[in-house]
Amino acid sequence: MTMKSVSRFVVIFLIFSAVFLYIITKFMNSSEARYSHEIVWTDVLNYKNRKEPIVVAELQSNKGSDMQNYDGEFESRLHTHKNSVQGSQIVLAVVACGDRLSETLVMIKSAILFTQKPLNFIVLADDPLIPSFKEKLNEWKDSTNHSFTFKVLPITFPLQGNTDEWKKLFKPCASQRLFLPTVLNDVDSLLYVDTDTLFLGPLEDVWRHFDLMNSSQIAALTPEHEDPNTGWYNRFAKHPYYGHLGVNSGVMLMNLTRMRAFSWTSYVVPIYKEYKLKITWGDQDIINIIFHFHPDKLYIYPCRYNYRPDHCMYMSVCKSAESQGVAVLHGSRGSFHAEKQPAFQAVYRAMEEYQLGSDPYTNLFLTTRNYLEQTTSTNCGKIQHIFTQAMQHFIQKTYGR
Ligand SMILES: *[C@@H]1O[C@H](CO)[C@@H](O)[C@H](O)[C@H]1NC(C)=O
Ligand SMILES: *[C@@H]1O[C@H](CO)[C@@H](O)[C@H](O)[C@H]1NC(C)=O
Ligand SMILES: *[C@@H]1O[C@H](CO)[C@@H](O)[C@H](O)[C@H]1NC(C)=O
Repeated sequence: MTMKSVSRFVVIFLIFSAVFLYIITKFMNSSEARYSHEIVWTDVLNYKNRKEPIVVAELQSNKGSDMQNYDGEFESRLHTHKNSVQGSQIVLAVVACGDRLSETLVMIKSAILFTQKPLNFIVLADDPLIPSFKEKLNEWKDSTNHSFTFKVLPITFPLQGNTDEWKKLFKPCASQRLFLPTVLNDVDSLLYVDTDTLFLGPLEDVWRHFDLMNSSQIAALTPEHEDPNTGWYNRFAKHPYYGHLGVNSGVMLMNLTRMRAFSWTSYVVPIYKEYKLKITWGDQDIINIIFHFHPDKLYIYPCRYNYRPDHCMYMSVCKSAESQGVAVLHGSRGSFHAEKQPAFQAVYRAMEEYQLGSDPYTNLFLTTRNYLEQTTSTNCGKIQHIFTQAMQHFIQKTYGR
């Protein structure tokens, strides 16, 4: 062998090793990346191949080992909220579709106003609303000195293959909250509210109930009614429900970590299939059925965290609101926008008109009180102080007024 051919051999060898190394690294990177995006769908569709409806007790012991791969659209969507917020920060989630844009923004405004802890919004919206949410929230973020962060995400179902079947079963928007433990796989806990809600006091006051839950409780909800004489579930429901009067799902603290450990999502479809002909209020009924079979998993917090017209339209039945004021107002059945409940409409109007950054004492508290003055002929207007009590307390404490 000549010196020349030896050096030629060395050169070729080096080139081959370089190419080989390149291919190896490339391959490892991609499998690593793939792994980190892979979610273990332990709580999803274990019953996929079953024919009969599943009995709840059976599901309990059946934490699936099925891993579902998924790819494409959902993966890239999920990736957009990968670096999520955890820990002691408050996470507020809402699902908004159709004509709910402005109502949702009024709710978000009230949350920004009354919160001093770091606040993170997750807005799940149907596609046409996404740009408007981003625009308004960016504007508020700038004007409030970045007092919050937000993510606006499209509505998604937690599965790839069965999406069509799920879409047939559920209205995507209405049922999205049932799937939050799976869809927001990297979030520990959140406060979920319906779009037709308003905060009338600090979110910290709601959030602290996480600390009051014991280790088996996965969610906090308020009773659907306080009074058996006007209760809906106890008089009309044809399916099982939680407790004596059922629960309302409009304002929920959800420990998603625990809900995932409980395999929450795997209960939803079988229960829906078994009870669909008996269900009236959609996903709220499903939540009631699940907690009927697992009452130890549910923490009940007082009605002032989900105050609805039912609490005052006949007579005042919510004791906690009478003593501490309403913390979260829920304008269910369109009461923020219709004439039927003038007190609810009055509070909504004042919050809608309030400009973030302006003086909350004059422009919110006094305005709300003025509008409520005009509703004192109604049962809810008669106890108007309950709507401004928490707000007044907060403004006094924060601004010294
Ligand atoms: C905004 O935040 C910065 C840094 O935290 C602070 O120095 C500044 O005073 C704040 N401005 C307003 C208007 O609150
Ligand atoms: C939710 O539950 C997990 C598991 O029990 C716990 O580590 C976490 O602190 C809880 N989150 C909140 C906000 O309480
Ligand atoms: C949590 O509270 C519920 C309701 O009071 C109860 O059924 C359950 O046993 C409690 N769990 C623990 C771990 O104490």
